[in-house]
Amino acid sequence: MGSTCVVGLQWGDEAKGKIVDLLCDRYDVVVRYQGGANAGHTVVHEGVTYKLSLVPTGILRPGIACVIGNGVVIHPPALLKELATLQAQGVVANDRLFISDRAHVILPYHLAEERLTEESSDSADHIGTTRRGIGPCYRDKVGRVHGVRVADLYHPAVFRERLARIVDYKNRLLSAMLPNFSPFDAGAVAEEYLQYAETLRPFVTDTSAWLHRAHSEGRRLLFEGAQGSLLDIDHGSYPYVTSSNSSAAGIAAGSGMPTRAIDRWIGVVKAYTTRVGGGPFPTELDNELGERIRRVGREYGTVTGRPRRCGWFDAVAVRHAARVSGSTELAVMLLDVIAGIDELKVAVAYERGGRRVDELPAALPDLEQCQPVYETLPGWPEPIDGIRRWEDLPGPARDYVEFLGKQLGAPVRIVSVGPDRSQTILVP
Ligand code: IMP
Repeated sequence: MGSTCVVGLQWGDEAKGKIVDLLCDRYDVVVRYQGGANAGHTVVHEGVTYKLSLVPTGILRPGIACVIGNGVVIHPPALLKELATLQAQGVVANDRLFISDRAHVILPYHLAEERLTEESSDSADHIGTTRRGIGPCYRDKVGRVHGVRVADLYHPAVFRERLARIVDYKNRLLSAMLPNFSPFDAGAVAEEYLQYAETLRPFVTDTSAWLHRAHSEGRRLLFEGAQGSLLDIDHGSYPYVTSSNSSAAGIAAGSGMPTRAIDRWIGVVKAYTTRVGGGPFPTELDNELGERIRRVGREYGTVTGRPRRCGWFDAVAVRHAARVSGSTELAVMLLDVIAGIDELKVAVAYERGGRRVDELPAALPDLEQCQPVYETLPGWPEPIDGIRRWEDLPGPARDYVEFLGKQLGAPVRIVSVGPDRSQTILVP
């Protein structure tokens, strides 16, 4: 068996963490390749709830190595806090966490820059981000002049001097644009970050070289996507996306491993749709049923606590995502949440101006005008969270899952009926 990727096919929060945790035993290394502390994975393991953000889910299993790849943006205080919380829960990262020396670093001014757009008086400019400085850090990465990588922190003299110039620029910009802005003290920021760098030093390495070595020694790699493919900067519902390639398209760039190493491409979907933050959502249920799904599915953001917008499954958007992410098999999560709903709808196409639309439109105004074309499937009244075998699921539940697989052109291999590891059904 070779390597695998687990990627969300919707707007994030597809419960990928559970799938990664479930599969971990069969892999030697879990790799994060994009995003940062905007991600939130909740994993329930033997009754204990672990919240993971930057650290790969594999950390919960002793003996599994975890890689934070070059495509991730790292906010050192967030990472250190997460490691300390994990340690307090008995999870020790020593010797098995590897952080890329090429990953970019989130600095305090990135958080201030994000406030600039997200709190601007013109709400049309709001993306509804997680406010973790993700977008501004990636912007500096691509802009090059102000980007700071982990490796830079180990050259204190050069770093202090460069940061002084960057902070001077940012202070001038921010004081012109942000009311009540107190300028950053470049010296203090430099010393703070040099301190973080010392604490993180044992973990920092060339993770691309490390991964190639591990792979050539026969170690099996599991690539863990954060957010979902519809939030991908290139392939998602731009501009209401995150700033990285959160589909499987980001794996090679964000880890330094060519994707020919991967032979199992798992796409994870919820049995319905959710999204946090702004942006189009053709199948949104802004009504009592949407409320019900939110309540039963506990659909509140792991990172920000915001209520998630809920709606029917959108096969048009997910087909696009499954294609981009190369999904060869699917995991359908949270099927238990839609038990007890009389009739279930799935958008199989859109309609715009009397015309059928089969592909996700690129332009926002076009997508906003799309009305879903639904197929209605019968629901099932009984709860299914106690069911463990495919053949014991009610007929309509199996039909619903199979319908999703047909719509997406890939077989469903895993069905999840609750947060616990045991609440998982393997589809024969
Ligand atoms: P950012 O990644 O903080 O810049 O936020 C951009 C968009 O992605 C916003 O709509 C966020 O709500 C969304 N987003 C970012 N991370 C996650 C996640 O892990 N789950 C779901 N949505 C996310």
